[in-house]
Amino acid sequence: CGIVGIIGVEPVAPRLVDALRRLEYRGYDSAGVATLEDDRISRRRAEGKLGNLAQKLAFEPLAGNIGIGHTRWATHGAPTEGNAHPHATERVAVVHNGIIENFRELLADLAKDGYLPKTQTDTESVALWVTRELDRGSDPEFAVSSTLKHLRGAFALALMFKGHDRLLIAARKGAPLAIGYGTAEMYLGSDAMALAPFTSRLAYLEDGDWAVITPEGVTIRDGQDGIVQRELMISNASALMVDKGNHRHFMAKEIYEQPETISHTLSHYVDMGAETVALREALPFDFADLRRLTISACGTAYLAGSVAKYWFERYARLPVDVDVASEFRYREPPLESGGLALFISQSGETADTLAALRYCAGQGQHVASLINVPESTIARESQVAFPTLCGPEIGVASTKALTAQLTALASLVVAAARARNTIDEAQERELVRALVELPRAVSAALGAEAQIERIAKRLSKAKDVLYLGRGAMFPIAMEGALKLKEISYIHAEGYAAGELKHGPIALVDETMPVIVVAPSDPLLEKTLSNMQEVAARGGKIILITDEEGAAKVGAGVAETIVLPTVPSFVAPILATIPVQLLAYHTAVFMGTDVDQPRNLAKSVTVE
Ligand code: G6P
Repeated sequence: CGIVGIIGVEPVAPRLVDALRRLEYRGYDSAGVATLEDDRISRRRAEGKLGNLAQKLAFEPLAGNIGIGHTRWATHGAPTEGNAHPHATERVAVVHNGIIENFRELLADLAKDGYLPKTQTDTESVALWVTRELDRGSDPEFAVSSTLKHLRGAFALALMFKGHDRLLIAARKGAPLAIGYGTAEMYLGSDAMALAPFTSRLAYLEDGDWAVITPEGVTIRDGQDGIVQRELMISNASALMVDKGNHRHFMAKEIYEQPETISHTLSHYVDMGAETVALREALPFDFADLRRLTISACGTAYLAGSVAKYWFERYARLPVDVDVASEFRYREPPLESGGLALFISQSGETADTLAALRYCAGQGQHVASLINVPESTIARESQVAFPTLCGPEIGVASTKALTAQLTALASLVVAAARARNTIDEAQERELVRALVELPRAVSAALGAEAQIERIAKRLSKAKDVLYLGRGAMFPIAMEGALKLKEISYIHAEGYAAGELKHGPIALVDETMPVIVVAPSDPLLEKTLSNMQEVAARGGKIILITDEEGAAKVGAGVAETIVLPTVPSFVAPILATIPVQLLAYHTAVFMGTDVDQPRNLAKSVTVE
């Protein structure tokens, strides 16, 4: 999703749409622009692609030399015209990327004073809060600064005000935002790409910054409202395919996008109001009739499938076989006809996964896939293709695609469990609520970055690293090891904690870091005993657990990374965050090419 803004010297609506086109690569499902026409806030918004918005503007043009525009990628509320940005009252128009986590609390407070929302979005809470401040007599600058102090979450905002035709205010906390400097004109954009046709002179806001922008000058303040200077740079965005924003690597950007990408994926699968899973795809099979699910995939996608096996078996009582596609395809296992075969692939082009799909199609299986690229071969050859919707993933080592796959899989598990009557309505609501609350926990987990960076410094000196987990945390331990190998080139193994004493314990000595992924669940005690076996041999334990688990840990642990406590259903998704950050920071210390590690390809279209 993307933000643009222009304070211009001629009508801005057509240029806003042009700028939004340059943000299309981020993915979106509705769009809109607002301008000040004779000091009235006027909007045009449309569902779907920018062509629809352009068509609307052709029939009903917008005048006005100042405006803001947005492509929306639904997180709260369906991608309808009504939910499309800009959101506006008579006094202010707002566009927003990211999530306002506490919007329900804000709306409850506003309702007491009669400020009521018209949409299902979190964004409207900002428009209404600013309006109340303005109604109470504040000027736009004060209204925004006091509003910002009430917002929780990760977001970028741009605001335009009635009565102020030379003023935009922007704020950044988490989601990137750049100010473009023109001659007589000023611009705002989610990245340098959006601004490339207008100017190459730009300054990125830093986290917590907010800026008052007029053609006469820009005042940037930090989170404590102190005036700050941000480096003016010359971008070569027109040459870049996509932009890393303020991040050093695409991988870091993609790790940080996850609260938003998970929300977006959920908005496709879940009815947040009813707290149910509502699949939009027509199913060529009935979950209730299935006797077996066969999952094939490669790399990280295979590990997503491995987590799903634990979920499907536990919640839907559906037996699952999961295998790496390169083994599955040549194993040519017997398959009872009428079974469901599921293929997981970010690219939708992985050769082994595609071959496994074709084998299953020939064996009378229902063929479903979970893919990130809807036009891909795997999607096209499936009877039903479930989307992961996390936007283009540029870093070769998969991060946000994995959490999107897990989020979609968890939703499918709930749908399967309901159809098979292995959970009741109340349990469905409980599981869906756990999913809906997950993005907030993911944001909190990202907060452990400073500690993880410190641990990574030590990890970068290791020759071998062992990752341990039980149950659905076992695949996450494997993912931790895979990520570390891929980008830091340090040898790592992921093991089922219970298998430790059947081999890998022979490797444990004082030089060997052992990373244990063990949030509080019925298996925690068992894993803690395995940890003691490592500690007794001098192994350096780094424990990834939650608040509840941390309280139970005894001596012998070198470091504990504490995650928020979440229901055990979604705990594997949350636990991917620290293992991603550990691998990322270790690789940064090692000085490797994080986004394009040696020997690896993003999409493997050969066997
Ligand atoms: C490559 C990538 C991995 C990815 C795997 C499967 O090995 O480096 O990150 O998990 O392929 O790719 P797919 O597109 O099928 O998910």
